[in-house]
Amino acid sequence: MTTAIPTTAPITTLDGLREHLQWAIELEHSTVPPYLTALFSLDAERNPEATRVVRSVFMEEMLHLTLAANLLNAVGGSPVLDSPRLLPGYPTYLPHGDRSLAISLVPFGAEALDLFLAIEKPARVDAPPESDGYETIGQFYEAIEDGIRRLCADLGESAVFVGDPARQIDADFPYGGSGRVIAVHDLASALEALTEIVEQGEGAAHHDVWDGDHDMFQADRDEVAHYYRFLELKLGRRFQRGDTPASGPTGEPVLVDWDGVRPMRPNPSTSDHAPGGVIRVAQEEFNHTYCALLHLLERAFNGSPSLLPVATGEMYALRAQAQLLMALPTEDGQAVAGPTFEYVDPADRRWRVGDGRRVTVLPHGPYVVHGQVPLRRKVKVVADNGKSVTWRIGEQIETEETYALCRCGQSSSKPFCDGTHAVIRFDGTETADPTPYDEQAWRIDADGISLRRVNSLCMHAAFCIGRERSIAKMMHDVDDSDVRAFITAQVDRCPSGSFSYALGADEPANEADLPQEISVIEEEDELAAGLWVTGRIPVERADGVDWEARNRVMLCRCGGSANKPLCDGTHRTIGFREP
Ligand code: FES
Repeated sequence: MTTAIPTTAPITTLDGLREHLQWAIELEHSTVPPYLTALFSLDAERNPEATRVVRSVFMEEMLHLTLAANLLNAVGGSPVLDSPRLLPGYPTYLPHGDRSLAISLVPFGAEALDLFLAIEKPARVDAPPESDGYETIGQFYEAIEDGIRRLCADLGESAVFVGDPARQIDADFPYGGSGRVIAVHDLASALEALTEIVEQGEGAAHHDVWDGDHDMFQADRDEVAHYYRFLELKLGRRFQRGDTPASGPTGEPVLVDWDGVRPMRPNPSTSDHAPGGVIRVAQEEFNHTYCALLHLLERAFNGSPSLLPVATGEMYALRAQAQLLMALPTEDGQAVAGPTFEYVDPADRRWRVGDGRRVTVLPHGPYVVHGQVPLRRKVKVVADNGKSVTWRIGEQIETEETYALCRCGQSSSKPFCDGTHAVIRFDGTETADPTPYDEQAWRIDADGISLRRVNSLCMHAAFCIGRERSIAKMMHDVDDSDVRAFITAQVDRCPSGSFSYALGADEPANEADLPQEISVIEEEDELAAGLWVTGRIPVERADGVDWEARNRVMLCRCGGSANKPLCDGTHRTIGFREP
């Protein structure tokens, strides 16, 4: 990369640099909806080559977004992604870019390729850096590079790279595309990250076809930069060694089936369809998922990097929702519907945003735990006769501020989610009855005590069974204070809250004073049981149905419960263990 003297307003302050790096995140994201739309519109069987190219560019744009977030974190900024600025509505313009280029959501085809070539256009070798109103993305990044170099020279590297290293996404992240995730902590790594971004987009040194990486699908083939990958599709021929931008591609033919595309109406909008209609509802569903993805990415880039695989997993849900839309003919029968990428105000979200403590069940995905809820292990203590006695508190598990717990049972880093649910297409459909406890409970009332139970909450921890009989049967002898004490103590230990008791028929339940925490439960024989959520932490269902906050909730983590998201004891049947 060259270090030309800037001719437009240079970046001279740390705040100015942070502002530009936030713009870089917005710029990298602005290419994602158009590329995803084109990708979703492709019939992968009829168009394997075009699918490969668009997917590879999309993945690299996500890498660039990650690198931009690493750069901003490294200089002490806080990446913002869950913002209407990232989803301004289409058609739109590249953020802070040349406003003669309109960015549209169109299906794959000649129009899409012309747009993508304009977005990825390499800068001229002698083009000056431009920190705002840039003509090419390369000029914008060159202005950032100049700013970083200037600030390091003026202030010293240690005064520029003041961010928390724990916020960096590093090379351990299992990114599956070409290029490298680079953790940024000094000038050298910052320049490396900027080079990766620009060369993948434009080619090395602005005038080379190749981007310096290997093809993500064919390791023996060098990768051409984004601009030239799109040019190969447009011209129907590959670049080969010796080719230059001037010669154009002279290699083997590239086959594109221009009809193997879902004919999506350009720039779809929810306002084109009646509220409550099939297309409108499906578009709103997509927008909820996309905003949830942005929210997860924002959390991942702000101190919870282990959420990145969870965010990546949401891409599978997006693809399914987009392809469902593209199977729906528009009302005029001229085209099919498409995703609208519209911002959903946090107040209208299916799942709340913010820092409050809560557990969010992601559709067919993990439990996302917000608000730094303590996580620990707890082990059931069982007597020699096999009867459940009490709980032993185990070690605290270190967590990030926001973290995701595996719900499918298949993560290789249990109890945390590692994204496997998306690969195995976990079916996490919720079937548990959301009716409030008191409306479902049956009860046995006796003098001074009312025993209550909701059968469907039971996960068979067996605290309700005494040496010879159940606590329900013991209610006949509740005049005996020892019996009464045994019943109340065992009910307090019931992890699912299936049983509760009150001190009178008309009294509210007398709940144990449980802390706000989540316990990873182990039962006898090292059997891995559910996740015990205590202290009335709200649990938000994936389907958006309201659920009362209860003092004790046992969530399934083996993936096999027939009463999801609640544990129903299936972990016993399948012998679920961790790891
Ligand atoms: S829910 Fe994500 S790996 Fe199990």
